[in-house]
Amino acid sequence: MSSQLEKVQELIELRTKARLGGGEKAIEKQHERGKYTARERIAQLLDEGSFEELDMFVQHRCTNFGQDKKTFLGDGVVTGYGTIDGRLVYVFAQDFTVFGGSLSETMALKICKVMDMAMKMGAPVIGLNDSGGARIQEGINALAGYAEIFQRNILASGVIPQISAILGPCAGGAVYSPALTDFTIMAKGISYMFLTGPKVVKTVTGEDVTQEDLGGADVHSKKSGVCHFAAEDGEDAIKIIRKLFSYIPQNNLEEPPLVECTDPIDRLEDSLNEIIPDSPTRPYDMYEVIGAIIDNGEFLEVQADYAKNIIVGFARFNGQTVGIVANQPKYLAGVLDSNASRKGARFVRFCDAFNIPLVTLVDVPGFLPGTGQEYNGVILHGAKLLYAYGEATVPKVTVTLRKSYGGSHIVMSCKQLRGDMNYAWPTAEIAVMGGAGAVEVLYAKEAKASENPAKVLADREAEYNKLFCNPYNAARYGYIDDVIEPRNTRFRVIRALQQLATKKVTNPAKKHGNIPL
Ligand code: HXC
Repeated sequence: MSSQLEKVQELIELRTKARLGGGEKAIEKQHERGKYTARERIAQLLDEGSFEELDMFVQHRCTNFGQDKKTFLGDGVVTGYGTIDGRLVYVFAQDFTVFGGSLSETMALKICKVMDMAMKMGAPVIGLNDSGGARIQEGINALAGYAEIFQRNILASGVIPQISAILGPCAGGAVYSPALTDFTIMAKGISYMFLTGPKVVKTVTGEDVTQEDLGGADVHSKKSGVCHFAAEDGEDAIKIIRKLFSYIPQNNLEEPPLVECTDPIDRLEDSLNEIIPDSPTRPYDMYEVIGAIIDNGEFLEVQADYAKNIIVGFARFNGQTVGIVANQPKYLAGVLDSNASRKGARFVRFCDAFNIPLVTLVDVPGFLPGTGQEYNGVILHGAKLLYAYGEATVPKVTVTLRKSYGGSHIVMSCKQLRGDMNYAWPTAEIAVMGGAGAVEVLYAKEAKASENPAKVLADREAEYNKLFCNPYNAARYGYIDDVIEPRNTRFRVIRALQQLATKKVTNPAKKHGNIPL
């Protein structure tokens, strides 16, 4: 064999070794834990044969605790680039088979390299997390590595989409990288996220809690809102990433991909003409409205199990990605509260950062009253949503279906928050407050002094409702651009979006605003 062939042979052998990560035994163990390896995950994520791996020969440089005798080609992370549906994406997948995927100085350098390349090329970064946290043997160098990653997460925010999947442990300060990214997907059963684990919790607070109950996918998708998508398992998590990817652009200077639309744009939905119940206190299901108006009823909901009184997610109108924000009358009567406001605000800001028009469907009775909300800072949280809509410069189409009262009317993309097209159904009630509450404030004294207080209040309420609980009062002032037939909503929204395609609005120059955090 020539010396060149020998060298080629050596390269092939080194590559084979590197691809085994922590070795066959460790891979077996990973499978026994119900988890895929980093390379298997990347293969599921990217288009077949598109992955180009980088830094396969990087090794850690730590000599503490005999670490110099334990080295692995590539260290604990697989990095590189490839395509999803033909579009460039950068990826890193922590390799649990090498020191439990724990973060070393060199691992951080590998991750930072792909993040830097993603910024240079204007392409999204996807991180697949499965790690025991900072590599304990490396001490402060591991911490510095995390900080380097966080700094890049921050600078990339709003420039390129960043997506994190949690497919194993993610604990301690490590959780802050996913938290800084745009979307976090957790796989049920195998993943958890917490700042301090059950043992520390027990020591500090005396609380007994399992990993799952402290930071499993259920907890973060239902209670904390940290997780945007709870996947059934690791494979499902990858599928969700690919789906999500189809709705979003490569970067903040590009538009989301346009998809061929097979659903007639002028499709009438007769059911919508009868969906609003006669009684104003009876709910209906906003999902039915969303499903009826978007392309082929295909909706990718974000944070589906968190703050269900507001629905947010991606859909398409005539093949164009939009972000849907809708009150859900079926849950807490669609009221806005702290969690719903935070959920809505974050989604609106993502859409605005990445040129995704907003379609807002309004049926909101107001903000949830009470000490629970006030002590929780609902003023600040509600202001987040207000701020997010008000600063958004993407096309904004609002359709008011039924209630739109008081502060919540303003918050939900009203005309004065630079709503571009504000439509209302004939069933809309756009007013300072509902009729019953209003007459209590205005006519309680008059009613008390009369012989028949109930009749006085009922008469006044009927008068108030006639005057205000309709769309025409707002339309008279031009606050509503048109009152539309519900069954025609899809067509009217599509027309509005087509018209708004060339919209250009810029906010005043500033370093950055001061959103009420
Ligand atoms: C070095 C680590 C490691 C770590 C795991 N390993 N975590 N090596 N540094 N942080 C190694 C283990 O020694 C083991 O090596 C292999 O990875 C697999 O781990 P197991 O314990 O066998 O796996 P499992 O039973 O599945 O448990 C996984 C685990 C556990 C729950 C993650 O390993 C664990 O609790 N690790 C420590 C977590 C932690 O406290 N990390 C530091 C947090 S502080 P061998 O050779 O036996 O196969 C932190 C600060 C970050 O992260 C701050 C950022 C700002």
